[in-house]
Amino acid sequence: MNTHTLRQKFKEVYGRDAESLYFAPGRVNLIGEHIDYNGGRVFPCALSFGTYLLAAKRQDSRMAFTSLNMPYSTVKGKDALERKSGEWTDYPLGVVKEFADRGFEPWGYDLLYWGDIPNRAGLSSSASVEVVTAVLLNDLSGAGFDRIELVKMSQHAENDFVGMNCGIMDQFAVGMGRSGFAIALDCATLDYELVPLHIDGYKLVIANSNKHHDLVTSEYNMRRTQCEKALEILRQRYPVDALCALTPEQLEKAADLFSDEVLYRRARHAVTENARVNEAIQALRTGDLSRFGRLMNESHHSLKEDYEVTGVEMDVLAEEAQGLDGVLGSRITGGGFGGCTVSLVREDAVDAFVRRLGEIYTGKVGLRAEFYVADIGDGARKIC
Ligand code: GLA
Repeated sequence: MNTHTLRQKFKEVYGRDAESLYFAPGRVNLIGEHIDYNGGRVFPCALSFGTYLLAAKRQDSRMAFTSLNMPYSTVKGKDALERKSGEWTDYPLGVVKEFADRGFEPWGYDLLYWGDIPNRAGLSSSASVEVVTAVLLNDLSGAGFDRIELVKMSQHAENDFVGMNCGIMDQFAVGMGRSGFAIALDCATLDYELVPLHIDGYKLVIANSNKHHDLVTSEYNMRRTQCEKALEILRQRYPVDALCALTPEQLEKAADLFSDEVLYRRARHAVTENARVNEAIQALRTGDLSRFGRLMNESHHSLKEDYEVTGVEMDVLAEEAQGLDGVLGSRITGGGFGGCTVSLVREDAVDAFVRRLGEIYTGKVGLRAEFYVADIGDGARKIC
């Protein structure tokens, strides 16, 4: 849908013109999975597709929510902040609550959302909704928070109101992305660097498994708890605040502390993934794309064996891709239990890759995959 059509839709739904139009992208994480909440370094980028949000002031102090991706509209009053409803409006309402908790009352708007990020595919459609809401309400309410604060508020909205105990990677990438760059983000300090994505002759291809990651909230929260337990054990030997402050060697030397091998494997994923991210950023800087690709493959393997967040669909997509002509690397991206893979594919092999992987996936799993050549875009912004 183009912005002209979106404006027409706004008028159909609310009977008047939209006054503002904002956009926030989805994101794809190149490497560094499940370590943002372990104080690790991650390497995501913003995509060119995302969520559009149109708004106009209402006469009263209620808030109307319409999503063109969902079947209904609803009007909410301030009592909606007392408890979550389990509906998609929890994402924007969680953000409204963050403003309210800081003494701002960004109420009284008609809002219309539309997104072209595949839902529940691990490309951060929820972070995109949160951040676009935060950026718009920040401007309209005159609250004046800086972008990093809005990113943190969006993460808290998801943690506290929605109940998904996510790290900060998605909201950060959605809020801070830049076209042509990936973000090397240190999640312990929020120091970050934009690294030019020089992958000449290659493309990043996203494969959507169309296996929805339904378990993600419960399993995700469980992984976080396991990491906290592993950290507690390791603190008997090392005075660290997060798993990723340890090297793989340090972890190995402390293996004797673990009576639960599951906890040890969770920790091993975190520390080795962090080391892989540092190596991958270095590989990209020196133009060693083969090494970057190998690290992507190793990341998938670790997420499969040690972190156990992949599943048969994602394993087929990533592992079969790894063996195809022109593919340097392939891995699951995002929270897991379904969703998407990202592969680094030689430009002239992309068509054959899409055809062949699509056939293999349907043959082995019975689902149809969808493919997108990733277009790296800018972070959240006002369009007009
Ligand atoms: C989800 C979360 C992120 C991150 C990833 C896994 O997308 O929202 O914070 O933990 O999973 O890397």
